[in-house]
Amino acid sequence: MFEDMKKQFHQNKTILITGGAGFIGSSIAERVCRDNKVIVLDDLSTGAKENLSGLVLDFRQGHTSQIAELVPEKVDLIFHLGIASSTMLYLNDRTLVGREINGSIAVFEKAVRDKAKVVIASSSSIYNQGDFPSKENQAVKITDFYTECRLSIERLAELYSILYNMRAVCLRMFAVYGGLREKGKTKFANMVTKFLWRMMDGKNPVSYGDGTQTRDFTYIDDIVDCWLLSALWDKSRFEIFNLGTGKEYDFNAVGEIINKVIGTNLEMQYEPNPLPNFVFRAWADTGKAEKLLGFSAKITLEQGIKKLHESTLKDQE
Ligand SMILES: NC(=O)c1ccc[n+]([C@@H]2O[C@H](COP(=O)([O-])OP(=O)(O)OC[C@H]3O[C@@H](n4cnc5c(N)ncnc54)[C@H](O)[C@@H]3O)[C@@H](O)[C@H]2O)c1
Repeated sequence: MFEDMKKQFHQNKTILITGGAGFIGSSIAERVCRDNKVIVLDDLSTGAKENLSGLVLDFRQGHTSQIAELVPEKVDLIFHLGIASSTMLYLNDRTLVGREINGSIAVFEKAVRDKAKVVIASSSSIYNQGDFPSKENQAVKITDFYTECRLSIERLAELYSILYNMRAVCLRMFAVYGGLREKGKTKFANMVTKFLWRMMDGKNPVSYGDGTQTRDFTYIDDIVDCWLLSALWDKSRFEIFNLGTGKEYDFNAVGEIINKVIGTNLEMQYEPNPLPNFVFRAWADTGKAEKLLGFSAKITLEQGIKKLHESTLKDQE
């Protein structure tokens, strides 16, 4: 069923990707631009145009709040990932919360005008407490400006769907890694990527605390599959799905797997955690996405690390 649904993905539609020059957005663009007209709207605050090189699409530089002027034509589908992507950015500038909420409101206004479906980037960080694995219907705990912003965007999307019939799916993504498009994210890249790239240089991986914090690491190809399936979802006007693998690994285990894959014996080094209210544990209950979307992640952490290792070696040739 999953493979059939992927084959049915839209053709000859106009698809707008906000944040399309970033890691995940450009990976989605790559998958859909051959069969559709793709417009990328990106302010290049953390993304890079190099992520789009070789792809046939229409790039427009600007903030989501400028969407009405920069993307005046009607679109059929919006993938909304153009929302500042790191906790640190919001800690350094709290006014970002308001700007990104207003940018998202502009995206939703366009979706209503164009009768376009919206798939929205949300985050596993909004759980930060409670039972594990985390379920979509459990209470969330907001402990920083990044998650406050993300939860507000989810709630506004639901409001637009109730009041203005906007069709929306929010994907609470868990620790995405894989491929080379994370290069531009430097210090904001995923821990798997940071560890692997350091260890390939013969340097010890560095973890905050004692390395027992966990994440549900999800490979980029699985992430893109789920975004495409979510765009086809038509059984309800508004839905929230976890997007993870259903497995948690601590940072020490990640270091061990990388040592095994690349044939090193580098020990984890530890340093104090500078982040207040750090998310200590993240682990997705994937039951809802499996049952309703027919989605389950295919790539294990070890397979994902092997793939990332191979593509990095190829890139270095
Ligand atoms: N990578 C992960 O593990 C992960 C997990 C959960 C949620 N997310 C969310 O998914 C989205 C994409 O993440 P990513 O890893 O590709 O990050 P990224 O930083 O590589 O991509 C974000 C892109 O959006 C652009 N952007 C940011 N704010 C914008 C705005 N207001 N208007 C226009 N463009 C804007 C940036 O320039 C960048 O190209 C982000 O919203 C992020 O918070 C990512």
